[in-house]
Amino acid sequence: MCGIVGYIGFEDASTFMMEGLSKLEYRGYDSAGIAVANAGKIKVQKRVGRLANLEALVKENPNPGHIGIGHTRWATHGRPSDMNAHPHTDEKGLFAVVHNGIIENYLPIKEELMKKGYHFKSETDTEVVAHLLADLYDGDFEGTVRRMLNRIEGSYSLVIMCAEAPDRLICTKKDNPLVIGLGKGENFIASDIPAIINHTRDTYIMNDGEVAVLMKDSVTITDRDGNPVNKEVFHVSWNAEAAEKGGYEHFMLKEIYEQPKAIRDTLTGRITDDNSQVVYEELNWTPDTIKNINRILITACGTAYHAGLVAKYYIEKLARIPVEVDIASEYRYRNPLTDEHTLAIVISQSGETSDTLAALKEAKRLGAKTLAVTNVVGSSISREADQVIYTLAGPEIAVASTKAYTTQLVALLLLANYLGQLNGRLDGQVEKHILTNLKELPTLCHEIFETVDDIKAFAKHYGFKEDAFFLGRSIDYAVAMEGALKLKEISYIHAEAYAGGELKHGTLALIEEGVPVIALATQDDVREKMMSNVKEVKARDAIVIGIGVKGDTELEKYVDHTILVPAADSFTEPILAVIPLQLLAYYAAITRGADVDKPRNLAKSVTVE
Ligand code: AGP
Repeated sequence: MCGIVGYIGFEDASTFMMEGLSKLEYRGYDSAGIAVANAGKIKVQKRVGRLANLEALVKENPNPGHIGIGHTRWATHGRPSDMNAHPHTDEKGLFAVVHNGIIENYLPIKEELMKKGYHFKSETDTEVVAHLLADLYDGDFEGTVRRMLNRIEGSYSLVIMCAEAPDRLICTKKDNPLVIGLGKGENFIASDIPAIINHTRDTYIMNDGEVAVLMKDSVTITDRDGNPVNKEVFHVSWNAEAAEKGGYEHFMLKEIYEQPKAIRDTLTGRITDDNSQVVYEELNWTPDTIKNINRILITACGTAYHAGLVAKYYIEKLARIPVEVDIASEYRYRNPLTDEHTLAIVISQSGETSDTLAALKEAKRLGAKTLAVTNVVGSSISREADQVIYTLAGPEIAVASTKAYTTQLVALLLLANYLGQLNGRLDGQVEKHILTNLKELPTLCHEIFETVDDIKAFAKHYGFKEDAFFLGRSIDYAVAMEGALKLKEISYIHAEAYAGGELKHGTLALIEEGVPVIALATQDDVREKMMSNVKEVKARDAIVIGIGVKGDTELEKYVDHTILVPAADSFTEPILAVIPLQLLAYYAAITRGADVDKPRNLAKSVTVE
C-alpha cells in the first residue's frame, strides 16, 4: 500500500514529510514525492526509487513552506517512474493530490477531461483527480472536493492541497486507511500511525465517507453531505515498532489479516456487476488469442509453485486445457517440450526470483506466449513477460508468503474462468456461481478469523512436536503442500504433505501414536476417500486435525479436532482452507519462540540460483 503524509502548522512541512515518509518505508514502495504550498504556489518534487533519491533532490532544491503533502508509491497503474510518482497536479498547479487505492472509473473520466482539452502527464489513475478538481473548481475548495467525490468510484485515501487555500488541507477515505494527528498549532495526516507517532499520540482514525478539513489550529470532520461528525480522540499507546505492524505482533499476522482487503482489491474491476463474466482489461484476449494454445505450462517456486498446483485444477476443470506445473529450477534444465502452442504462466510475488525469471526466459526462447502473475509492478518478471496480471495484495514484508498466495489463487481462478469463457468450455451457470462466491470471499475470510482461539490452542498443544503430516486429495493436496511449507519454514517443525492415497505406499510407516496429522477435507468428490485416510492414521493413534466445510457433520466423528471454513464451492474453498493453516503455522512458531517474520536461512526474495 502507498504511504501518505500531510502537514499544516508552524514548522517546515518538508522536514516533517521526509521524516514521516521514512517511517513508512517498511510498507514497500518504488517512488516518492512531496508538494509544498508557499506564496500562492505549489512546488512538487518527486523521484523514482529509494527515498534517498528524493532526499537528495530536496536538499539541493529546498522546498520551504508550512503546508504540504507527501507520498511513497506502490505502483498499481503505471510503472514506477518520476512522472508516475505522487503528488499529482492539474496543469495550472492549482491542486496537488496524493492517493492510496484504485480509482476504478478513472478511464472514462480521463477521456472526458481529455476531450475538454486537459493534458495528462502520467499513466496513473490518480492524476485524474487533480484535473477533475480543476475542472470543477468554482473558488470553493471544500465544495469542489465534495463534487469531485460524487464523480469517482473505487477505493481511496486522498489528501488534497489547493494553492488558493494555503491555510488548509482536505482529506477523505474509502476502503483505505487515513489517520489525523492532533498537534498544538499544527496538525498531521498519515496513512499509518508510525509517520506521526513521534509528534503526537492523539489521533482521529478516519472512517469511510468522512471528509476532514485541517487548519493549523483546528480539524473539522463532516460526512460526505457536510454534516458535522463528532470524533473520539484515539490515543496511541503503541511503541514505534509495534505501530509499523499496525498493532500486530508480527508482519506475518498483519498480512494474514489483510487478506480480505487484498482479495477485494485483486477482484476489483475484474468481475462484471452481474457476476456473469470475468474482465481482464490488461489482457484483452479474444478466442483467437488462445485458439492455437494446446497446453499450458505453469512454473514458479515455493508458495507460488503451490498456487500453480491449485491453478492446474482450476484451468483443467473450467477450461479443459491440459496444464503442466513445474518447479522453475527444474523446468529450466529439463530441455522442456515447450513451443509456440504453449501458454507459459509464471507466478512470483516479488517478480524477482531468479529461477522463475530464468524459466520465463527459457519458455520465451522456445516460442511460448508468456504471462506473469506477480505482486510488484515494474518487477523484472513483469517486464520480461509478454503480458502481466497483477495481484493487488500490497507489499508483503514477512518472509512467509500469505496474502500473496491467496491473491494469486484469486487471480488464477479468474484466469481459469476467463479461459473457459474464451474457448466456450465453461458453463455460464457454473461461472456465475464461482464468481458470486469469489465476491463473497473477503467476508467469508472474517468468519475464519473467529476460529483463531481453537487454532491457537492446537498450536500450543502440538507446537512442540517434531513432525507433522498434511493430507489432502485433489485440490486439497495442493493446499496441503502450502500448509506444510508454511509450518516448516517458520516453526522449523519437519512437515510434509501427502496425497491421501499415497499414505499406504510408504509414509504410513511413519505414523505412530501422537503424530499430528492435518487432514484437508473440503472437496466433496473425494471426501469419502479422505475419511478412509483419516481412519488409517487414527488406527495408528495419530492426532488428527480436520479442516472441513461448515455443515460437514461427518468429519468431527473421525478426527480429534475440527476447523470448519465457510461453505462456498470446490474452487473457492482452497482459498479459505489455507487461512487456518497459515494461522496454525504462525502460532506454532510463536509457541516455539521462532523468529516469525525472518526465519533462519531464508530470504523474502531469492534473487540468486
Ligand atoms: C513462501 O512462504 C516462501 N517465502 C518462498 O517459498 C517463496 O514463495 C518463493 O521464494 C517464491 O517467491 P516469489 O513468489 O517472490 O517468486
